[in-house]
Amino acid sequence: MTEKIRPRRSALYMPASNERALEKAKTLGADAVIFDLEDAVAPDAKAGARSRACASVSAGGYGRREVVIRVNSLASVWGREDFAAAATSGADALCVPKVQSADDVAAIRGALESGGAPGGLGIWVMIETPLGILNAGAIAAAARAERFPVHALVMGTNDLAKETRAAQTRDRLPMLAWLSGCVVAARAHGLDILDGVYNNFRDEEGLRHECRQGRELGMDGKTLIHPGQIAPCNEIFSPGADEIAWARKIIAAFESEENAGRGVITLDGRMVELLHLDMARRTVAIADAIEEAGDDI
Ligand code: COA
Ligand code: MG
Repeated sequence: MTEKIRPRRSALYMPASNERALEKAKTLGADAVIFDLEDAVAPDAKAGARSRACASVSAGGYGRREVVIRVNSLASVWGREDFAAAATSGADALCVPKVQSADDVAAIRGALESGGAPGGLGIWVMIETPLGILNAGAIAAAARAERFPVHALVMGTNDLAKETRAAQTRDRLPMLAWLSGCVVAARAHGLDILDGVYNNFRDEEGLRHECRQGRELGMDGKTLIHPGQIAPCNEIFSPGADEIAWARKIIAAFESEENAGRGVITLDGRMVELLHLDMARRTVAIADAIEEAGDDI
């Protein structure tokens, strides 16, 4: 699995029962849209949401946005039908809640296989239970596969708060070890990782603070609940102009004749090694991918 770099700065959830939201998603600047069949949909509305989500995905119109359906877990009464319907909807990935073990990943693949899903369909794995946190390394290790690769881990911080009784504070100290542990698990196996949602959607300053913290932790992007959260999130998870300029300078320096064959150089008074060259190349690749997608993707 060598997935090409795909910006996943912002992934907006919307209840699939909300037809207006599914339509609005076609005009929003989120890198990914997640049509939710799980927590945001009441039991009586599940069947309607399922068919609406699949019909909207199949009808298309979402441009370059990555289109993801969040199904109910296989352990729930709706899971099997959700998987069967979403498997052939044409979605880019299914987001699966409450994944707790590598066996769960295998069961997800089994359900996709029997649902007749195309092998390129990706899986976004939600880590949002105590067992999921404890097994994050094994879950991420099960990610690579010819068919139905896992593309991303997605932190479910609201469920984690519920299950662990940890508080959701501004600095997120009670959850920091879990968030970092999952970043390491994702990186160990070449996966992207998306941070949890910020519930107070009218509080832009608080959102920005949490986005910055997520980026500092190594997250690739953040899951969102409201269109107003997209622009600040995209801004914070994009490499800044200074960062891109510095990356290009590093690449140019290593490509220059005088530095041919060198593993370490001095640039603007700083030590720069080949590992920094790798980082610089990634920064430029992400910036190019973002530019290619365009602002309003
Ligand atoms: N996706 C797409 N459009 C959305 C949206 C979302 N997540 N949230 C709000 N909108 C739209 C509204 O439909 C409205 O559109 P309109 O102007 O065309 O009518 C507009 O944005 C402004 O909405 P606003 O009035 O500010 O919010 P609200 O009170 O209607 O909704 C929530 C607030 C929290 C109920 C809503 O944002 C939501 O459902 N969020 C997602 C919840 C979710 O999926 N949770 C599961 C994962 S944690
Ligand atoms: Mg949940």
